Amino acid sequence: MIKMIYNTFFQRSLTSVRDLTRQDFELLFDVTDKLIQHNSNYNICSGKTLGCIFFEPSTRTRLSFESAMSYIGGNTLATSNILSSTQKGESLADTIKIISLYSDVLVLRHPLDGSSKFASEISTKPIINAGSGTEEHPTQTIQDLYTINKETKKIDGLKIAIVGDLKYGRTVYSLLYGLSSYDVTVYLISPEALRIRSDSIYDIKKKLQLTESTELNDYIHDLDVIYVTRIQKERFQDKEEYFKVRGSYVIDNSVIKKLKKNSIILHPLPRLDEIPNNIDTSKHAKYFKQAEYGKYTRAALLGLILTKNGFEHK
Ligand code: CP
Repeated sequence: MIKMIYNTFFQRSLTSVRDLTRQDFELLFDVTDKLIQHNSNYNICSGKTLGCIFFEPSTRTRLSFESAMSYIGGNTLATSNILSSTQKGESLADTIKIISLYSDVLVLRHPLDGSSKFASEISTKPIINAGSGTEEHPTQTIQDLYTINKETKKIDGLKIAIVGDLKYGRTVYSLLYGLSSYDVTVYLISPEALRIRSDSIYDIKKKLQLTESTELNDYIHDLDVIYVTRIQKERFQDKEEYFKVRGSYVIDNSVIKKLKKNSIILHPLPRLDEIPNNIDTSKHAKYFKQAEYGKYTRAALLGLILTKNGFEHK
């Protein structure tokens, strides 16, 4: 049985990792562990419906949410910008209002910063942010932190490099907000043109030991976690600028040889050329495991939002 602390997620929206405490993460990790261990006893969301609204492409987030909802006994309805009446000019506000009539919880991915916060203010049902512009991707962070904790047995004390597109990568910001609940050292490795947006991390700079650099090689021998990100071509206004930074960091065999014995490589995926396929069989490569954990961390989140005590008696 899960040792339950107060369920702070019940009927609550999740639009930003800034709203999560260390205790919230620990509750999610605990429930996720139980879901993975007892894989058929959690039919706690029977009769509940998840509404998925994806206005940007997705493979992992959307399908892991659907899979997660099914895993805890619920069902899903889904729409996108292509399939919905937004094609006829219907507003996002009306789309959210209508889908909240048919669902118990909504998941929204949208190209605009602030879209999930906006949706949470008009929806009658909880909203989960599945990616809002370049701003945040909170459920990715839950699975990232769960993976780090699971694969390295701790988070406190780790040396973590976040590598690649730190300017446009929304997973980066949510991850930094999440890591600010822990005692970690973070190296922000990017090309000059893709440095972290300083104003977006202003309030967590005091909580995290942060070092910015363009040189992964200077730190690689000492890292516990290398969190690699894709350079986000679709967010560049000028595609020439993209081609200047494409391929800046490639985690190939020459990099792998420099890693500490137990260090892990993560990536929110999708990847392009930043991690070649031949690295997938390396003992350090944990990014597919990370994607798999996403199903269970999302099932934990959905179950906690939809049921006050659903996991307590299992
Ligand atoms: N990591 C992630 O958000 O992947 P998708 O874009 O495929 O959902």
